[in-house]
Amino acid sequence: MSTAVTSSLQSPLASTSIPQRIYSVDRQQFARDFNERPFMVDHALSGHSAFTMDRLHDLLERSLPIRDKVYWNAGKREVGQKWSDRPGRDFSIEEAFRRIRESDAWIIIFGADRDPEIHAMLEEGLKEVQELTGIDFAREVKNMQSIVFITSPHRISEYHIDRECSMLLQIHGKKTIHIFDQNDREVLPEEEKERFWSVDNNAAIYKPHFQDRARSFLLEPGKAVHIPINAPHWLQNGDDISVSVNQNFQFRNERYANVYRANYYMRKLGMHPSPRGAHPGRDRMKAKAMSVPVNVAKKVSAIRAKMKSA
Ligand SMILES: [Fe+2]
Repeated sequence: MSTAVTSSLQSPLASTSIPQRIYSVDRQQFARDFNERPFMVDHALSGHSAFTMDRLHDLLERSLPIRDKVYWNAGKREVGQKWSDRPGRDFSIEEAFRRIRESDAWIIIFGADRDPEIHAMLEEGLKEVQELTGIDFAREVKNMQSIVFITSPHRISEYHIDRECSMLLQIHGKKTIHIFDQNDREVLPEEEKERFWSVDNNAAIYKPHFQDRARSFLLEPGKAVHIPINAPHWLQNGDDISVSVNQNFQFRNERYANVYRANYYMRKLGMHPSPRGAHPGRDRMKAKAMSVPVNVAKKVSAIRAKMKSA
């Protein structure tokens, strides 16, 4: 496929080296607010040649054959629409990318760190996060990855929550991200968190009447925002193509997840479980009780995946 239409993102000044330091931060704020509340920092990756449209095109082509590594949708979208609600698309992802200026598309490349340079950026970025927060990555983190987002002008990225703790770095174009407090139970009721951690990645429901509770950040090249786990967010792109890259990681938080799962199933049985965090002793019991069925379910799905690929 041709990438001629996107040549405006080719910069003759694009840098090819990984900066010695990616983030410029207020160290005190970073340590205090990380995974508690969103905040902005500066970053040094916006001029890097790994993010020209030709390079992103190569990355997309290499990612397409790999299962679940590319997600996209296109067309006019509402903030509260679900990712899973895909309107009929009468063109391919190749065309969506090639005509990104007018295709109203949102293209996500997961595991973008299969590109060696993006991988080196991820390692350096998360090394800085580790140093700034004191999180012991070897002990507390189970995986990390980089995700690239390519978005058409004016596109909305739908409201959702994530399992990952992330830094979202703006590379090209401007967009506004609206981030809500993950602990506001009116914005994000316990039932939605429980459903999210148990069975439904689209469990968070946008509530327009609480929009004014969001903190809004204008992302421009060189700016990054931190998004805590579970913090609901949606994005509004500006009038240019947007390219951004996410550096994220997941904690080894099976016990945390299992409390939400236990509450989800208790609620299904008509019970009224206490919210996670309200009673640590009960949380420990719930997490323990859920660990057996969750491990069995994981083993069954691993066997299924093996049989599929055999
Ligand atoms: Fe997200």
